Amino acid sequence: MSHPDHPLGVDFGGSGIKAAPVDLERGDFAADRERIPTPDPSTPEAVAEVLAELVSSFEGHGPVGVTVPGVVRDGVVSTAANIDDSWIGTDAAAVFGRATGRAVVALNDADAAGLAESRYGAARGQHGLVVVTTLGTGIGSALLHDGVLVPNSELGHVEIDGHDAEQWTANKVREDEDLSWEEWAERLTVYYRTIEGLLSPSMFVVGGGVSKHADKFLPMIGIDTPIIPAVLRNKAGIVGAALHAAGEG
Ligand code: BGC
Repeated sequence: MSHPDHPLGVDFGGSGIKAAPVDLERGDFAADRERIPTPDPSTPEAVAEVLAELVSSFEGHGPVGVTVPGVVRDGVVSTAANIDDSWIGTDAAAVFGRATGRAVVALNDADAAGLAESRYGAARGQHGLVVVTTLGTGIGSALLHDGVLVPNSELGHVEIDGHDAEQWTANKVREDEDLSWEEWAERLTVYYRTIEGLLSPSMFVVGGGVSKHADKFLPMIGIDTPIIPAVLRNKAGIVGAALHAAGEG
């Protein structure tokens, strides 16, 4: 049952804006998720309008956490690889707060997923350094050390052979170039080997919608570090955003 005090998690992505109240004891939605397509262009004003509509469709007055697919520091967005450039320099927390009349915090989308996987999912109870990656339109990353998030790691943009990694390795590239699972796993091996060499993590967690097909590509990624699929999948962003809004991550 949804309770009016449940924090609301909102996942702002390239194709949809999704929201649900979250029961933090269970790490799951407290009511059915609502979704509205992302406006095009996805300017701050247009997104804030949709977000206000979504938030008002839920009863309650708890805090709101919103994920943004870019670097977010103190609510302010400073990169926009896959969203409208007008986000750069925008105080997302303030814009969304004004539009909804609620207390809003904003954080990077992969960081939100990482918080959720660390608290409830694949990396639960894991000590040392865990790198959570999300493979989607871009590549997102979250660094968690003993469960504590180091935000805005942006490992999707490491340079490999002179190229931005996500433009060669993201799931969107697999779809656009019609890569076989084997071909994609070769690229992922280069990618994860690079991160492995830089950070020596204890574990990689692989999220994003494509992680539901993990059995088709994860076993072919040839690295020395354990690499496992995410558990919360497309719920992770909303759950992590709600955790952050509640001041628990
Ligand atoms: C952005 C990241 C984001 C990732 C996944 C990248 O292009 O730079 O901030 O986490 O895409 O959406």
